[in-house]
Amino acid sequence: PKPKSGKLRRTLRWAWRLTYVSAAGLVGYTCYIVYEDRHPEPQFEADPTKKTLVVLGTGWGSVALLKKLDTENYNVVVVSPRNYFLFTPLLPSCTTGTIEHRSIMEPVRTILRHKKAAVKFYEAEASSIDPERKVIKIVDSSEVKGATSETEIPYDMLVIGVGAENATFGIPGVRENSCFLKEIGDAQQIRKKIMDCVETAAFKGQTVEEVDRLMHMVVVGGGPTGVEFAGELQDFFEEDIKKLVPEISPRFKVTLIEALPNVLPSFSKQLIDYTENTLREEKIDIKTKTMVKRVTETTVEAEVSRPDGGKERMTIPYGLLVWATGNAVRPIIKDLILRIPAQKDSRRGLAVNEYLVVQGTRDIWAIGDCAVAGYAPTAQVASQEGNFLARLFNNMAKTETHEARIQELSSKLNLQSGNSAEAAQEIESLERQLRRIKDIKPFRYSHQGSLAYIGSEKAVADVSWWNGNLATGGSMTYFFWRSAYLSMCFSTRNRVLVILDWLKSKAFGRDVSRE
Ligand code: FAD
Ligand code: NAI
Repeated sequence: PKPKSGKLRRTLRWAWRLTYVSAAGLVGYTCYIVYEDRHPEPQFEADPTKKTLVVLGTGWGSVALLKKLDTENYNVVVVSPRNYFLFTPLLPSCTTGTIEHRSIMEPVRTILRHKKAAVKFYEAEASSIDPERKVIKIVDSSEVKGATSETEIPYDMLVIGVGAENATFGIPGVRENSCFLKEIGDAQQIRKKIMDCVETAAFKGQTVEEVDRLMHMVVVGGGPTGVEFAGELQDFFEEDIKKLVPEISPRFKVTLIEALPNVLPSFSKQLIDYTENTLREEKIDIKTKTMVKRVTETTVEAEVSRPDGGKERMTIPYGLLVWATGNAVRPIIKDLILRIPAQKDSRRGLAVNEYLVVQGTRDIWAIGDCAVAGYAPTAQVASQEGNFLARLFNNMAKTETHEARIQELSSKLNLQSGNSAEAAQEIESLERQLRRIKDIKPFRYSHQGSLAYIGSEKAVADVSWWNGNLATGGSMTYFFWRSAYLSMCFSTRNRVLVILDWLKSKAFGRDVSRE
């Protein structure tokens, strides 16, 4: 009937207008953010009379600190061999070209340019820390070196956020023959090597055994890194390689090796089962209770624990080997541990107190994967620790300014000069503020949940929900995974690039050219 369809038409028109206005609003807002980003306020020089705060690293912990720190209160110096921040959660997607590596990198110079007071950045590696003399030694470890490539930086306050390196447990052959997955360079190397294996397997006259070996992609470590990479690899094969190199595709195989009885040990039992079933459906071979003992140029030698308690040795030929067995302590941290008697029992990093101060030191704090504060080595923990230190340092600076002002006003009162009632009132107010500022609670980590991509557009999530926990897996979780990581990307530029990469790889397929 006419009136009804008229009503429907009106509703549709309103819905259309609303969509149009929202889209225009979103575009306008993005343009505004981009403009703001490109035209930061003029920056003022750092004040040399202020304390020197040296920050080591440009990872999750250090960048979270720098983002929230009021840099006008200190002389801030940042030292890192990497002149960018890396959004690690999307690194596995770079190994197959689903996302291009520059989309998840944010130059640290851009980040620092947005601070009120200028911050010094040195692209260098800190090679040692001397807590007695309060200096750090830095070395230019890049390809291009100037006449000076080594020097010292004195500090009043030091924050160590150097992360961790890859654990190999001293297993022979791992360093020489495997790829790791921690840095951009690792992802690029894996991407090249996958295609090298495929092209070499397709070489004229290649024997069947050699094709099988080259097309066998082995991942060691069933933690989130190993699982996410295995999922991405299988997607790459199903969606692209299979179509482009069909003659060798039946021989493509991904094997995931884990020493423990199951993969993703930090997730709930329900999600572990869901993940293992999904990986098996994707035709990924999961070998649990299998410990790799030795690696050669073409094989992995592992020990399998049989159900009867016995052990069995197996040799697995591989084309690509990705080693993802977790974190180890960096040499600079090992060296510092040896210099501090109170750290003699530290094995997994620098033991810190509840204010993240390195035990047995003064004026040194540690955050992220290089610190042992009783939490898992994750980006979530590192960034919350960075935020906490920023608040702490901002408050410390405010305390000093307030205390100096109180001293100044008190001496005025003593001299009976000026308006004493006004000064007394100001002192009272400053003291009230000081009590509030000084009452800083110790660091407490608030767990927001864990997310992992498991391939074929499925993800698993263990998230905090109201006062409980929600464990979920599947395609809807995959959309949640994408939206969560998109919202967590460092900048609008990163977000836009990641969206474009997702669209590009969906529409045109992943780029299989080998650089
Ligand atoms: P990093 O982020 O590793 O940064 C360390 C910084 O120190 C780097 O800039 C490095 O160049 C610098 N540095 C190193 N040596 C020196 C030196 N000698 N002197 C000065 N600077 C130095 N966590 C999550 O919570 N969610 C996820 O989804 C997730 N996904 C991940 C995916 C992958 C593939 C990987 C590898 C990790 C993932 N993580 C995730 C873990 C997370 O990335 C780490 O816990 C986090 O990066 C730790 O932050 P950090 O600041 O301690 O160290
Ligand atoms: P991990 O420490 O979580 O897992 C490594 C796995 O390798 C362990 O399960 C271990 O049993 C296994 N292993 C060790 N030696 C082995 C051997 N010789 N043979 C076979 N298996 C062996 O390491 P991962 O995955 O690199 O993660 C490091 C940290 O980063 C973790 O805290 C993790 O939670 C975090 N992370 C989080 C992600 C997410 O939330 N999506 C993604 C990636 C990392």
